[in-house]
Amino acid sequence: MHMPSSDLHEIIYVSTLADDTPVRAVADIAMQARSNNHQSDITGLLVFDGLHFCQQLEGGAQKVAAVMARIQGDPRHRNVEVLHQGPLDQRRFRRFSLGYTSVEDIELLERLQRLKGQAAIDGFVALLSGLDLDG
Ligand SMILES: Cc1cc2nc3c(=O)[nH]c(=O)nc-3n(C[C@H](O)[C@H](O)[C@H](O)COP(=O)(O)O)c2cc1C
Repeated sequence: MHMPSSDLHEIIYVSTLADDTPVRAVADIAMQARSNNHQSDITGLLVFDGLHFCQQLEGGAQKVAAVMARIQGDPRHRNVEVLHQGPLDQRRFRRFSLGYTSVEDIELLERLQRLKGQAAIDGFVALLSGLDLDG
């Protein structure tokens, strides 16, 4: 039987690229995030639609909280809004210290932005199935 690992947590938030941050900065953000997350045994996915971000992060509760605190204070984005945070039985992404994907459809993340809690997770998972990813 699968036992939930002790303190695995996840967080999902949405945010908006800051007005003075060029789109090309997103590649640097993803690269930096990947190496930091790898060191902290955090996995997850960053989705960007040209204006909005949606990011899911999963890992040890304290590590996820620490990285989220840094992300929240980052001036390269604004309107950081946590849609869900809570315990997780099993990682959604085993291979990605930070998977990165961009979407063309600007309405996907706008729709997600209006969801909360379990509905936000369901919306995120539905978004993934449309992205043809395997974590
Ligand atoms: C949209 C967005 C997503 C980010 N995601 C991560 C992340 O997953 N992991 C991470 O360490 N930093 C992430 N960052 C960067 C952090 O805000 C912060 O700049 C970085 O963690 C500081 O790293 P350093 O301690 O190596 O200087 C993100 C920033 C933005 C704007």
